[in-house]
Amino acid sequence: MADSITHSESVIDIGGSKTKRRLQRSIAAKIIGFDSEGRHFLPDIFFSDDDGLQIWRDINRLPDYYQTRDEIETLEKYGAELESFIPNKCTILDLGCGDVRKTKPLLDRLETSGKDIFYFGLDLSLKAVQGNIDGLRATHKNIQCTGLWGTFEDGLEWAKGIEGPMLYLSLGSIFANDRLPRAIRYLQPWHDALRPDDLMLIGVDCLQDPELVWKSYHDTAGVFERFIRNAFAYSNRVVGVEWFRDEDWDIRGELELNPVAHHFVLRAVRDVDGGESGISFKKDDEITCYGGYKQTPSLVRQQFQAVSLTEIACWPSPSGKICECSRPLTRLWYLLSFSNGRN
Ligand SMILES: C[S@@+](CC[C@H](N)C(=O)[O-])C[C@H]1O[C@@H](n2cnc3c(N)ncnc32)[C@H](O)[C@@H]1O
Repeated sequence: MADSITHSESVIDIGGSKTKRRLQRSIAAKIIGFDSEGRHFLPDIFFSDDDGLQIWRDINRLPDYYQTRDEIETLEKYGAELESFIPNKCTILDLGCGDVRKTKPLLDRLETSGKDIFYFGLDLSLKAVQGNIDGLRATHKNIQCTGLWGTFEDGLEWAKGIEGPMLYLSLGSIFANDRLPRAIRYLQPWHDALRPDDLMLIGVDCLQDPELVWKSYHDTAGVFERFIRNAFAYSNRVVGVEWFRDEDWDIRGELELNPVAHHFVLRAVRDVDGGESGISFKKDDEITCYGGYKQTPSLVRQQFQAVSLTEIACWPSPSGKICECSRPLTRLWYLLSFSNGRN
């Protein structure tokens, strides 16, 4: 552990207070600009304001949102094996920790293990990180829990100052949520930061069942739609101009096959003029957002090979194997190390 970190602080600002300013500088380009597939695109970072993460809590409890349930079941089932890989004095960095619901079974186990563990949950909303870490501190007295307020890039810089073994957690398909070339680009800097004794646990959504994937993003209560619209409303607050008004935009889902991917697409039902924000759209212009890319084991292995990560263990989710309806494998878990590390 780096000496400079004091554990009395429950949350450390490693750049979170600057995020809004950084977004202000780039927002117009990001929304009006095009992604590599030539579509207007709202980046995921806009989904994680205080309200967004509150709605996210509701989403991951929806009955058809298999993603969270499957990962929790996997962590519970293989918890003992996973724990055996985690050395004493390990620093765990949970990238995009969300509501820490998934990580909790592992932390519960570590709490009774007798090991000295330093857990850091990183996310974008100070309110959410604070609330989650305070909750963990109330129930976990043996492991040290601290929040990090900032972006993934801030987390990468912060991790360079940490001494001793580290375990990076990328739960919720964070490092695998894109087409292969971009997924490789996202993972590369994290591989470069890994030292020989460091480990990375990556959860990857491998469900190739279009119907179940669709249902997971289209709940009848409209919680997902609220989540999407909230991200655009947050972009208004970042820009300081109400360029986005609910009534100007329709929302629909779009599904691709082989491999399965889901996007939300907003279509302007009339011309939109965001005034001094510089953001404007014509009727029928579209903005895509919140992509959910489902991988295949083969694609994931290509991603790991491309960045020279060595797979140490891989755990299929219980529902994928045991399901009565012969549902295909839904999730794989990979515990990875730097290629020169132990394997
Ligand atoms: C799909 S959720 C996964 C949450 C949690 N790990 C889980 O699996 O339930 C993605 C998380 O990453 C956070 N996130 C997204 N972009 C981020 C960024 N650029 N920097 C830091 N956190 C980010 C979001 O706020 C959210 O909590």
